[in-house]
Parts: sequence; structure tokens; C-alpha cells
Amino acid sequence: MSETKPPKNPHGDALQPRRLREGDEVGNYLVLAHLFTGGMGDIYAAVHLQLNRHVALKVPRVDTPAADFNRRRLLAEAQFLSRVAHGNVVAVYDFAATSDRLEYLVMELLDGHSLDQILDKTPHLQIPHAIRVVKEMARGLAAFHRAGIFHVDLKPENVMVVAGALVNKAVEGENWIKLIDLGTARLTYEHNIDTELTLVGTPAYMSPEAIQDRPVDGRADLYGLGIVFYEILAGRHPLHTTDDAEMIQAQVEQRPPPLSTFRPDIPASSSLERLIMDCLEKRPSKRPGSMLEFLSRLDQAYSEWRKQVAQCATIMPGGPIGL
Ligand SMILES: Nc1ncnc2c1ncn2[C@@H]1O[C@H](COP(=O)(O)OP(=O)(O)OP(=O)(O)O)[C@@H](O)[C@H]1O
Ligand SMILES: [Mg+2]
Repeated sequence: MSETKPPKNPHGDALQPRRLREGDEVGNYLVLAHLFTGGMGDIYAAVHLQLNRHVALKVPRVDTPAADFNRRRLLAEAQFLSRVAHGNVVAVYDFAATSDRLEYLVMELLDGHSLDQILDKTPHLQIPHAIRVVKEMARGLAAFHRAGIFHVDLKPENVMVVAGALVNKAVEGENWIKLIDLGTARLTYEHNIDTELTLVGTPAYMSPEAIQDRPVDGRADLYGLGIVFYEILAGRHPLHTTDDAEMIQAQVEQRPPPLSTFRPDIPASSSLERLIMDCLEKRPSKRPGSMLEFLSRLDQAYSEWRKQVAQCATIMPGGPIGL
């Protein structure tokens, strides 16, 4: 059998896995454990040797022909995250490179689970919980939008739910949600400057305009948010296919069934249902105009829903549903 040499990238490095190991020292950090391998990078838990502070390190995957792309996007991610300090966005501490030129992003270490891990166990969230999750996501997204950044890769894997949230012992005043993964985010004025970006995204959460390579703005994030909102309430994606090619077509053409089809405790045509279905409009101009508009409609919709539940509770024995 002939042995093929690994290809070289423009940095001159062999394209091979560069996993850090437990006990490795990276700059001021000691690697404690490998946590996750994502599409673009590996995430590690580490500790700052002098400050004794626990952190997460994100290191680009260089064992792939996309190594250069991953490196550039990690730097862009670090720069985007540095522009936003918000309780619903993961905090970034530093960006540096090892002596052998392996870049790494240093973030706060989040204790909890990603929303997709939660949904694996609990596919339908209670309405007050779903609203709290989405509200905090929207607040984090509004902070990005204020800084001129669009996330464009909103999906349950990129939403961290802190430990203790969604269970009774959760402390009311604390944030439940931290948005992560700005790996494919864009700036307001950047229309596909990075041409490879047009190929990146998750079909199940991409807006029709991103799929069609039209300019995207904050309303693409409203579309992604609408999909997540629908999914955590209905227990299923609004467009019913698992095939990527069919999903891409469905995102552009298929109308999702009204949420009330799957969630009898959300009345048809209620303001909550209308808000979620408006986010899923194919044309950005038919969605809410901004995250702030979304947040104010959400508050209104929730108080209407609570009034309806309270009325039912006085009529039906057994009390309100889902509280
Ligand atoms: N700061 C953090 N603290 C704890 N865990 C984290 C942190 N950041 C990321 N993770 C974990 O690592 C996973 C992957 O992170 P991230 O989405 O940033 O990587 P990625 O390579 O860009 O992913 P992909 O491209 O596959 O979406 C997350 O879903 C989460 O489980
Ligand atoms: Mg991710």
C-alpha cells in the first residue's frame, strides 16, 4: 500500500490533528480536559496558572482542508465577541497563539448544557421556560445587532443553558442563556466578503435570504430565532425533513404548519402564535423589524397568554397548564 503524505497548507504545516492534551501548557493556561469537537474547532477546559481562573479554549481544527478558513474565522469570532459585553453572550478574555502558531480563543467556561442537549431529553419546554429562553436569546442578539454584528448561525447547539436553569432550583435573577459560536457571524457592511462563508451554515436554521446568497441583516437572526422558538414549543422543527437538500428547498418555499397544530395550550391566532409565525416569514420585510420590536411583542404576547391561562384556570379545575 503506498503511503500518501498529508497535504501542506500555506502556513507550511502538515494538515494533521493538533489536539491539545490534558496537562499541556498553552501560554498562561493549563489544559484540563477536551470538551467538544465542533465543525470549526475543539473546545477545552483550562485554568489560568497565575489567576487560577477556569476558562474555555477554542482552537481551530487544522486537520482539514478548511484549516485556513477555520483559523481566519476564529480570529473574526474573537474580534466580534470582543465588541459585545452582555450577560447573554459568552465573555471573551483573550486571543493568542502557541509557539508553533496554533491560535486559541480564551472564553469564560460555561457550566451547563447546550440547548440541543436539553431538547434531547425534554423536546417540549413549558411555555414560561420557552419564553424566558427566547427572551434571553433575543437580548443577546440585540446586543450583537447594536454592535453591527449578525450571528447568522443561530441553532440549539450554539445556545448554552446554564446549569440549574429550567429546573425549580434555578435562581430567578440569574441569566439562563449564553450565546456562543460567532464563527460564521458577519458585519453589517460585509456582504460575503469571505466568499467561503456563503457555503457555511446549517440548512435547518438558515434564512431563505442566506440560502439564496442575498444580503442578510438582523432579520435573518429573527428567522433563526423563530425556528428555535417553534422547535422548543412544538417539539419538532417547523419544516419536516431531515434531508439537507430538501431542507434548503423547504426553507425557501414551504410554509410551516401553525404552531397551535402541535401545541393546544397556545390558541390559534393568539398573539404568541402570530409572533412566532411572523418570524418564519420567507420575506424579511414581513418579519418583526428588529430584535427590540420582537422583544416588546413577546412581552405583550406572554401577558395575553397568561391572562388566557388564568381565565381557563377559573373555569377548569386542575389549574393552569404548564406553569
Ligand atoms: N465557553 C464555553 N464553555 C463551555 N462549553 C463550550 C463553550 N463554548 C463552546 N462550548 C461547547 O462546545 C460546543 C461547540 O462550540 P462552538 O459552537 O463554538 O464550536 P464550533 O466548532 O464553531 O461548532 P460548529 O461549527 O459545529 O457549530 C458547544 O455546543 C458547547 O457544547
Ligand atoms: Mg457551534
